[in-house]
Amino acid sequence: MRTGQIKKMGCVLMVFCLTFLAVYVLTSGENKKGEDILENVKRQVRTGDDDLQQQVEGINIKIENLENTIAMLKSELQLAKTKINATAYPHVKKRNYSERKRILVTGGAGFVGSHLVDALMADGHEVTVVDNFFTGRKQNVVHWIGHPNFELMNHDIVNPIFIEVDEIYHLASPASPPNYMYNPIKTIKTNTLGTINMLGLAKRVKAKMLLASTSEVYGDPEQHPQTENYWGNVNPIGPRACYDEAKRVAESMCYAYKKQEALEVRVARIFNTFGPRMYMNDGRVVSNFILQCLQNKSVTIYGDGQQTRSFQYVTDLVEGLIQLMNSNYSLPVNLGNPEEHSIEEFATIIKKLSGSSSKIVHVKAMEMTQGKESQILKELD
Ligand SMILES: NC(=O)c1ccc[n+]([C@@H]2O[C@H](COP(=O)([O-])OP(=O)(O)OC[C@H]3O[C@@H](n4cnc5c(N)ncnc54)[C@H](O)[C@@H]3O)[C@@H](O)[C@H]2O)c1
Repeated sequence: MRTGQIKKMGCVLMVFCLTFLAVYVLTSGENKKGEDILENVKRQVRTGDDDLQQQVEGINIKIENLENTIAMLKSELQLAKTKINATAYPHVKKRNYSERKRILVTGGAGFVGSHLVDALMADGHEVTVVDNFFTGRKQNVVHWIGHPNFELMNHDIVNPIFIEVDEIYHLASPASPPNYMYNPIKTIKTNTLGTINMLGLAKRVKAKMLLASTSEVYGDPEQHPQTENYWGNVNPIGPRACYDEAKRVAESMCYAYKKQEALEVRVARIFNTFGPRMYMNDGRVVSNFILQCLQNKSVTIYGDGQQTRSFQYVTDLVEGLIQLMNSNYSLPVNLGNPEEHSIEEFATIIKKLSGSSSKIVHVKAMEMTQGKESQILKELD
C-alpha cells in the first residue's frame, strides 16, 4: 500500500470515529433530556392524581352535605305538613262583622261546653272559652286552638273577668256528684261568686246571659215528671246541697239581675246528658255501664233495676241551649229527654250494642255519704 492511500484511510477512519463520537454525545444528551421529561410527566401525573383525589374528596363532602340538607328539608316538610293538618279546622260558616257575635262560654272545655263551642264556632261566631280545667280538658277544644275566631283562657270564674262580649253561656261548674262533692265549698263559690261575676260582666257590657242550671234544683222531687213551676224538694244540708242549693241561688241571682238591672237572662234546667267526651269514671249510669261492658266486667245494677231514667244526647242539648238563648223566653226551661226507660233496659241495650260478654248483676243499693266519694256504691246519675 502506498503512503498516500494509508493517509487517506486514516483520515476516513478518523472522520468516522468523530462522527460516531458526535452522534453518541448527541444521542446520550437527548436520552437524558427524555428521561427528565418522562420524570416530569410522571411527577405531574402524581401531582395531578393528588389534586384529583382532593377534588373527589371535596365533591364527596359536598354530596354528603347536600344529602344532610335534603334530609333536613324532608323532615321540615313533614313537620310543616303535620302543622298544616293540625290547623285544618272543622268547617266554619262565613259571617260578616255585623252578623258575627262575640260569645263567652264559661266551662267551655268541659263535656257539654266543648260541644256547644263546636256548634257556635261552626256557625261562624267568635268564641272565647274561660275554664280553670278543674274537670275540663284542653283536648276537648284542641281542634279550635289557633283559629282566628277562637280564644281559650285559663281563668277561674270565682275571680272577675273583663272582656267585651255579646252573649254569655255560663256552664262553669263541676257537674257529676264525685266532682262537685270533691270540694263542696269550691262548688258553692263557683256557682254563686262565679255566677255573680258573670252577671256583673253581662250587665257592664250589656250581654245576654244563659245559665246552665240543673234538674237537681228539684232535689228529691215529689212530682213526676217535674214541670218548671214545681219548686222542688231539696235538703239544704244534704251531701248534694253544695250543688243543688248553689244552682238554686244562681237562678235567683239571674232573676234579681233581670228585675233590677233589666238584664236579658235565660235559665236552662239540664237533665241527664250523655255523649262523646263525657268522663268515664264519674260514676254515672251510662258511662259506668259502657266501661263495664268494654272491660267485660259485671254490669252492676243497684236495686231491682226497675227504677227509670232518661238521657238526652249532648248535641240535642246544645241545640236546645242555642235555641233558648236566641228566643225571647226568659223563664226557666227544662232540657232533657222525656222518654224514660228502666235501668235494667239501659244495661241490656248497652251490653247488646257493645257486643260484651259481661253479666248483668244486681247489688243492694247503698247511700253515698259525703266525704266518701271514692266509694260510689249507689249509682249516681
Ligand atoms: N252533663 C249533665 O248531664 C248535666 C246535667 C245537669 C246540669 N249540667 C250543667 O251543665 C254544665 C256543664 O256540665 P258538664 O257535664 O259539661 O260538666 P263538666 O265538668 O264536663 O264541665 C264543667 C266545666 O267547668 C269548668 N269549671 C269548673 N269550675 C270552674 C271555675 N271555678 N272556673 C272556671 N271553670 C270552671 C271545668 O273545668 C269544666 O271544663 C254545668 O253547669 C252543669 O251543672 C250538666
